Amino acid sequence: MRLLITGATGLVGRAIVKKCLKQGISVNYLTTSKNKLDAIEGCKGFYWNPSKNIIDTSCFQGVDAMINLAGSSIAKRWTTSYRKKVLESRVDSLNTLRSGLQDAAAKPNFLISASAIGVYPSSLTHYYEEDCPEVADTFLGKVVNAWEEAADQFESLGVGVAKIRIGLVLSDEEGALPKMAAPVRNYAGAAFGSGEQWQSWIHIKDLADIFLFVLQHELTGVYNGVAPNPVTQNKLIQVIAQTLNKPLWLPNIPEFVITALLGEMSSILLESQRVSAKKLEAGGFSFKYPNLMPALTNLLI
Ligand SMILES: NC(=O)c1ccc[n+]([C@@H]2O[C@H](COP(=O)([O-])OP(=O)(O)OC[C@H]3O[C@@H](n4cnc5c(N)ncnc54)[C@H](OP(=O)(O)O)[C@@H]3O)[C@@H](O)[C@H]2O)c1
Repeated sequence: MRLLITGATGLVGRAIVKKCLKQGISVNYLTTSKNKLDAIEGCKGFYWNPSKNIIDTSCFQGVDAMINLAGSSIAKRWTTSYRKKVLESRVDSLNTLRSGLQDAAAKPNFLISASAIGVYPSSLTHYYEEDCPEVADTFLGKVVNAWEEAADQFESLGVGVAKIRIGLVLSDEEGALPKMAAPVRNYAGAAFGSGEQWQSWIHIKDLADIFLFVLQHELTGVYNGVAPNPVTQNKLIQVIAQTLNKPLWLPNIPEFVITALLGEMSSILLESQRVSAKKLEAGGFSFKYPNLMPALTNLLI
């Protein structure tokens, strides 16, 4: 089997590529940086520029299925122009991939696209399953909605579409965990806001396994990419401190301070989404890291 992966050079992409190569799955990848064309050992890189609808259509050769992860990082200050980039990079990537596919000789017939739990409205009480019809009335809600709609367009080409709504990815390489763990290691850790907000986290290795599980079972539709046991922000910081054997003595960082520092992007830290993993489990997926403490022990120690 051969996969085509967009955003393969990123955090989630690298973990999926590693699993693929281990399982004997060949990988083509699309990158927006010409200097990353040879960046992933054992894989074939192809150039694209989704903002100009440019794609090297030889990337589809011999490909059975596609995984789409591409998009500008949301962890940068949300200025008006950067918001545009966050949204357009995701929609343009899918549209460019689809128009390339229309012109390509080889036609993979399955797509798994990344999505995000930011689509669910912030709530301390709701327990979100995939069939929730509500979309958060926020910037991220709008981005995810447009992103999923762009993925659904592939169905008109006879391509099966799965969307994985990814939660807070825990990895020792980059992303949220090293940023939260560093102050704790330096005796300056503190939870954000009330600390009561739910954090639906996922170990990076389980997330990579979810993509391959959905691929191998050709599951279509929406799947939450989260572990079965979300925790509150207070609990998350406490378990990080416990795992690192460090004391937590500072009060929580007040909401207004976080908002003053980060602007609207503070919603990433302050919003609450308690998200269910039941649909994946009912489909036969088994998590290696269903609980936070073993996940953090694996990543931080
Ligand atoms: N990490 C999380 O906690 C999390 C949570 C929810 C959802 N997600 C979503 O899952 C996807 C993968 O996450 P990640 O953490 O692996 O992200 P990442 O590390 O930022 O990687 C994303 C990749 O997208 C490509 N990219 C960047 N800007 C682009 C643009 N303007 N147009 C097209 N491609 C662009 C880059 O690859 P090249 O430089 O090779 O082109 C980059 O390596 C992202 O779309 C993200 O929004 C992640």
